[in-house]
Amino acid sequence: MNYDTILSTTNNGITTITVNRPNKLNALNKATIGELHSAFKAAGKDKDTKVIIITGSGEKAFVAGADISEFADFDIKNAEKLAAEGQKMLFDYIENLSTPVIAAVNGFALGGGLELAMACHFRVASTNAKMGLPEVSLGVIPGYGGTQRLPQLVGKGRAMEMVMTAGMIDANKALEYGLVNHVTSQEELIALAEKIAGKIMRNSSVAIKGAIKAINANYKDGIDGYNTEIKQFGKCFGTEDFKEGTTAFLEKRKAEFPGK
Ligand code: COA
Repeated sequence: MNYDTILSTTNNGITTITVNRPNKLNALNKATIGELHSAFKAAGKDKDTKVIIITGSGEKAFVAGADISEFADFDIKNAEKLAAEGQKMLFDYIENLSTPVIAAVNGFALGGGLELAMACHFRVASTNAKMGLPEVSLGVIPGYGGTQRLPQLVGKGRAMEMVMTAGMIDANKALEYGLVNHVTSQEELIALAEKIAGKIMRNSSVAIKGAIKAINANYKDGIDGYNTEIKQFGKCFGTEDFKEGTTAFLEKRKAEFPGK
């Protein structure tokens, strides 16, 4: 599929989606959000895609935020609609995708850019990465899930400070905070994400899907995560992947998982 503001390529089980507006530091406009939704949907359905990596084009930015020029003249109603539709279409959509999504944060991840990275299942970053939620410096608050996901990842006090100061943290601070899992050079970033993807791909996609559901349940109001885990655990026992995984172990061979 052809896109105007993003790129999507699939190789060896990995679909790499690149936000491709380097002249605007990959800022998320309406078109980009729509195209990202389509690309994530397609990759999620694609049997050949076992892991998705998302990154930004160029050497400077992952995504420098929502495109400020698009919402500068919005009123209250339009602003609520922007946040509600964006959350549903992209941020919640990624978080709840059954296919693992890794954010490779290759530069500025600010505002909607950090919110995008935080909606992914986990994050790796390059040493030049800078992360923050600068919205209050613009007279607004994060609207794509930032006030919810940042405290989940770094703790309430650190999230409060990051949001209130509108400051940026560097990759090492993000590592210390648990916002990213690994830091490497910019040249090595995609290779690192691919290496982790390779480890994921050796395992059962069907079981991973259940694990994502169960882990996410911990962060959903009114849902008993332990109960979700019990249900997903039980469900595994009816799958071909479970049969193959346990049989391969007992036969002392490597499992060849059929499903996605
Ligand atoms: N929305 C729209 N355009 C953006 C953008 C955003 N969030 N972030 C960067 N851009 C554009 C700039 O307007 C500029 O466009 P121009 O060349 O047509 O003028 C281009 O990207 C390059 O950015 P520039 O500001 O010149 O780069 P810089 O290296 O001087 O600064 C940043 C980099 C990231 C510090 C700065 O761009 C910035 O503060 N961006 C906004 C971050 C933000 O507040 N995001 C949250 C939005 S809710």
